[in-house]
Amino acid sequence: MLSAVRPVPTGHGAVGAGMANASSDHRQTAGLLSTRLSVMNNALDGKVALVTGGGRGIGAAVALRLAQDGADVALTFQQNQQRADDVVDQIKAVGRRAIAVQADSADPAAVVAAVDRTAGELGRVDILVNNAGAFLLGPLEQLSLEEFEQTVAVNVRAPFVASQAAVPHMSAGGRIINIGSNMAQRAVFPGFSLYAMSKTALIGLTKALGRELGGRAITVNLVNPGATDTELNPADGPNANTINGFTALGHYAKPADVAAAVAFLASPDGRYITGATVNVDGGFTI
Ligand SMILES: NC(=O)c1ccc[n+]([C@@H]2O[C@H](COP(=O)([O-])OP(=O)(O)OC[C@H]3O[C@@H](n4cnc5c(N)ncnc54)[C@H](OP(=O)(O)O)[C@@H]3O)[C@@H](O)[C@H]2O)c1
Repeated sequence: MLSAVRPVPTGHGAVGAGMANASSDHRQTAGLLSTRLSVMNNALDGKVALVTGGGRGIGAAVALRLAQDGADVALTFQQNQQRADDVVDQIKAVGRRAIAVQADSADPAAVVAAVDRTAGELGRVDILVNNAGAFLLGPLEQLSLEEFEQTVAVNVRAPFVASQAAVPHMSAGGRIINIGSNMAQRAVFPGFSLYAMSKTALIGLTKALGRELGGRAITVNLVNPGATDTELNPADGPNANTINGFTALGHYAKPADVAAAVAFLASPDGRYITGATVNVDGGFTI
C-alpha cells in the first residue's frame, strides 16, 4: 500500500504513523489461522475468490477466512512476494488451491490481468474482494495532484476495473465486496481529505452496481472497517488511545473481525443483502 503520512494540524498525527514490524503481523496472521481452524465450514465449497492486497493485514485475513470456508483463493500483492506466498501456503494447508499474483492496483491493466489469471488458473471467479487501498494523508495545501491520482487509481478505479473484468466470469450467486473505511462516514481527524473522498466513492459504486447486477443475482456490498490492527494502523501505535476513545467498544478490531463480515456477505446466507454498507468499526460511527 502506498502510504504517506504527514503531520496534520491538530496534532492528532495520523492513523498510520506508526509501523509495526513485519514479523508481528506475520505472527498475527499465523495465530489467526490456528484460531479460525476450529470454525471451518463449507459454505463456500467450490467457489473461487480473488482478494486484492491479500498478502497481509485485512486482505490476508479475508483470504484465509474464505479458504477456511471452502473457497479457492487468488490474492494480489504490490511488492511483498514472500508475505503473499506465506498466505498461499497457509491456504494450501487447509486444503484449498491458492495463487499469489503481483498486481499493482494503480495499474488497470495489471488489475484486469489478475482477474483473468484467477479465472484461467482457478477456473472461475465467484467472489471479488476489492481490498487493496492507498492511504495518503496530509493537510489540504500539502497534498499533490500525483497523490490525488494515486488515491483515486487504487481506491476507486481499481475496484471499478476489477468489477468490470470479474463480472463476465461470474454466474448467479456472484459476490463483489468492497473494503471502504469508517473515515467515509465520520471525518473525525484532519488530513483525511483524499482518503475519505475515495472511500466515500465506494458507497456510490456499491449501490449503483448492486442495482445493476441484481438481475443477475450478483450482490455488491461495502464493508467499512474501523481501526483494525494491521501494519497500516497498529493497535499499539501512537494514536491508538485517541482512536479507541471514539469507539463504543474501546478497542481495535482484529483483521479476522473484518474477515468475518466479508465471509458472511460472501456466503449463501448473504444472498439478500446488496448495495449495503456494513460498518465493522466497534461503534466508531454511531
Ligand atoms: N487497518 C485499518 O485500520 C483500516 C481501517 C479502515 C479501512 N482499512 C482499509 O482496509 C484495506 C486493507 O488495509 P490494511 O490495514 O490491511 O493494509 P496493510 O496492512 O497495509 O496491507 C496492505 C495489503 O495490500 C497490498 N497493497 C497495498 N497497495 C497495493 C496496491 N497498490 N496494489 C496491490 N496491492 C496493494 C499490500 O501488498 P504488499 O504487501 O506487497 O505491500 C498488502 O498485501 C485498505 O483498503 C484500507 O484502506 C483499513
